[in-house]
Amino acid sequence: MSNGDVDSLFASHPTWMELDAHALHHNLAQIRKRINPEVKVIASVKANGYGHGIMPVCKILQEAGVDMLTTGSFYDAKALRNANINIPIIMLGGSLPSGMLELIEANLIPTIYNMEAANAANAAADSLHSDKKIPLFVKVDCGMGRLGVSLNNAVAFIERVSKLKNIWIQGLYTHLSFKNESGMEFAEKRLSLFYNLVSELAKLGYEIPITQALASSAITVRWKDQCSAICPGHILFGLPSVNSSLGEIKEFLPVCKNIKTRVIHIADHENGPAIGTGGYHINRSFSRTCVVPFGLNDGNRSSLNGKKPVVLFKGARLAVLGVSLEHLTLEIPDDTEINLGDTITIIGQSGDECIDMSEYSSWFNTSELETMLTLSSRMPIVVINKDEAV
Ligand SMILES: Cc1ncc(COP(=O)(O)O)c(C=O)c1O
Repeated sequence: MSNGDVDSLFASHPTWMELDAHALHHNLAQIRKRINPEVKVIASVKANGYGHGIMPVCKILQEAGVDMLTTGSFYDAKALRNANINIPIIMLGGSLPSGMLELIEANLIPTIYNMEAANAANAAADSLHSDKKIPLFVKVDCGMGRLGVSLNNAVAFIERVSKLKNIWIQGLYTHLSFKNESGMEFAEKRLSLFYNLVSELAKLGYEIPITQALASSAITVRWKDQCSAICPGHILFGLPSVNSSLGEIKEFLPVCKNIKTRVIHIADHENGPAIGTGGYHINRSFSRTCVVPFGLNDGNRSSLNGKKPVVLFKGARLAVLGVSLEHLTLEIPDDTEINLGDTITIIGQSGDECIDMSEYSSWFNTSELETMLTLSSRMPIVVINKDEAV
């Protein structure tokens, strides 16, 4: 679908997100350039594909040939299986041991980090009378302090799990994300402990085919790796995971290309309402306003700390007067011709002007990722630039 075609959609609630298939292919190609050809790419599609819509994102990623997907959401994973996304899906967690049967039945690869889950997976595999052992991934906590078997207990844990008859350890991974210099230093030290663990296990005869530790932060700062897979999330979608002082991600394109809406009402207030009446008009300098259906219910927010949000119309910035439950009210300068149904860009490029995710997020003191998560669950997502995929 071309960008022009999209603008005429959704007349009954004309606010939508445009997901750029070309950008997703491009970002994956950029990531592949940074690794050896035999290294597997496990695409992290946590949280509804980092807010970009699990279904369109995974269809594009499958087409682009990622090796595996990973998410923490059983519902997202199940929806993918129902939609014929057939590549292996690793579940990053999010389940109780008693959920193992459901995960395995849905052809998902559970992550385990305690014996309760290992035993439950083994019993579930047994109950399915499969002639093949069921693959599992083991997560090690190397210091992030979230999920995972602790480094100190990892060898003993793997020894015990390896004795179970109906399952096998296909993968071993850890997560070491960082944003700033001190975080990077810490992660670098902890990464070497993960490598030591992999070597120790190999010496003991436990050759685990897939090992993975690097995600967006480490890929951004171009760490060399010893593992057989990487697991990027943020940069796949063109979102930064580190502060700009540590590394830029200019080669990566935003996959959420645009958020757009259309004018549903234009009003000329002439000299009224008086300053101070009607919350939307206190800061009004021009007589005309227009309204677009991009309210709090669409994921929009009220700005904080006196910041002044704007939108784009035909390459110019229009001031936001106020946001309410369902609507956003804008001010129209005297020299601007605007009509019912005209397209307004909330995020994206319009003429020579651009509001990127970073500028938009700064008005609400939030991160690009949090912006994406808030917006995308509320609006239709349209895939654009499918034909330009690299
Ligand atoms: C275990 C694991 N690996 C990889 C990722 C991807 O991280 P990033 O989005 O920083 O690339 C995540 C995301 O939280 C994760 O939990």
